[in-house]
Amino acid sequence: MGEQSDRQWWRDAVIYEVYPRSFADADGDGTGDLAGVLSRLDHLVELGVDAIWCTPWYASPMADGGYDVADYRAIDPAFGTLADAERLITEALTRGIRTIVDVVPNHVSAQHPWFQAALAAAPGSPERARFWFRPGRGDGGTEMPTRWRSEFGGDTWTRTKNADGTPGEWYLHLFSADQPDLNWSHPDVRREHEDVLRFWFDRGVAGVRIDSAALLVKDPALPEVPAEPGPGEHPAVDRDDLHDIYRGWRAVADSYPGERILVGEIWLPDVERFVRYLRPDELHTAFNFDFLARPWDAEQLRASIDATLAAHAPVGAPATWVLSNHDVTRPVTRYGRADSSFAFTAKRAGTPTDLALGTRRARAAALLTAALPGSLYLYQGDELGLPEHEGLDDDLRRDPMFLRSGGVDPGREGCRVPLPWSGDAPPFGFGPADATAPTWLPQPADWAELTVEAQVGDPRSMLALYRAALRIRRAELNGVEGMSWLPSAAGVLAFDRGSAFRCVVNLSAQPVPLPPHTAVLLVSTPLQDGALPADAAAWLRTGIDQ
Ligand code: GLC
Repeated sequence: MGEQSDRQWWRDAVIYEVYPRSFADADGDGTGDLAGVLSRLDHLVELGVDAIWCTPWYASPMADGGYDVADYRAIDPAFGTLADAERLITEALTRGIRTIVDVVPNHVSAQHPWFQAALAAAPGSPERARFWFRPGRGDGGTEMPTRWRSEFGGDTWTRTKNADGTPGEWYLHLFSADQPDLNWSHPDVRREHEDVLRFWFDRGVAGVRIDSAALLVKDPALPEVPAEPGPGEHPAVDRDDLHDIYRGWRAVADSYPGERILVGEIWLPDVERFVRYLRPDELHTAFNFDFLARPWDAEQLRASIDATLAAHAPVGAPATWVLSNHDVTRPVTRYGRADSSFAFTAKRAGTPTDLALGTRRARAAALLTAALPGSLYLYQGDELGLPEHEGLDDDLRRDPMFLRSGGVDPGREGCRVPLPWSGDAPPFGFGPADATAPTWLPQPADWAELTVEAQVGDPRSMLALYRAALRIRRAELNGVEGMSWLPSAAGVLAFDRGSAFRCVVNLSAQPVPLPPHTAVLLVSTPLQDGALPADAAAWLRTGIDQ
């Protein structure tokens, strides 16, 4: 890798999200682990990814799947040891795969030593100053300090007890009560997180995914949320002081060789506000959730692509394309529904789904996103076309989104089921052959055709499509700037990348003729008499001999 291409690796990288608990289980206890990831690196090499992003692997009570961190410098024993993490980072790199870790700065686990010390200390103590402890309102302090709503539904304050057992102060948690929010105006908080970044950069990681990146700073006056907050007016979202924090983080990242990157998890409806985090001295990239949330509709997707690229251009940051992650409904399920958009608030169990249709569309969406300029995120299992597992028993669901909604929201376990690797029946090779412990979430019995083993030999499989797409993308599109739309019929997206590559996606109900080309590089569904069927995409060669 030359100096220049190495420096720019993240601009068009393909980054694969590993959810370690469900990737592969080396020790046979039913829970995935880092040795399991290490043992399956060849799958990622064959797939053709440039980097992995591992969701939190730190010591955690797992109240929120590890996004409740008790020690940012230790690996949870269920996942292995720090030596395992170091080995994974090194071994992946020898295979050309960089590692991105997930840092959770908005909150810690209630078991984190800082919070335990804060609970043990008195109101007004320095230990409590690192969090948001406040007396309650009203007589006897029985009313919570604000009526803010949790990201997981429900309240954002929990009352503590004093040493003598009497009701005490309240503490703030934008997520569950097991995840107390840190006070980012406290210098210890800032110092500690910059130190955590160094800890992982020192171990060779290529980047950091920043959890809930737009939530860290709160208005210290703790006002109620305005009915319709204007830009920067929400007391807990997208506060202007965040930018200074990320400038500090960028300085840490830039002090390391090899272009270490910062990727923000930023859910903001306003794309202009979103790209402010991507100015040259802040984050390198952030997840483009606007695109993910859009329905399978040509105009909607085109509008999102145009708005994304237009907003990113002035700050010089690449766009990202994300179809899925460990929080959202799997694409083959989402795209098989009458309403194929995504919103957390709209998730309901029992929504009718046509999985064959969803799979066709997810295949086309794979080619669409892989052809767009910028970096690409791929969530484990999407390369296998796994559907959301909607048949899980409610008593297996532990996700705070399920628990805090009283079961109205089915929660996120359905996209976190252990991967099927081989064989005809659960656990589909998830652990060693002699493992007896059940997988931490049961897999559907009918996933035999979705295993890696079954798909490797099948040229029509989702895995074959992804492998081919990532190979062609690397050969044809790396380093190619921009895109240009071609005129196309209603319901059809067609664009060129450079002078030799053309992508066409048919979101209409009828087959459409292919635009001019010299060769067909890849199709998501076989052509019908030379035409592109409904819900299908094609990659075409154009140029010199056209
Ligand atoms: C992010 C994570 C999600 C987690 C939440 C709280 O949205 O992706 O899984 O529950 O932050 O940390």
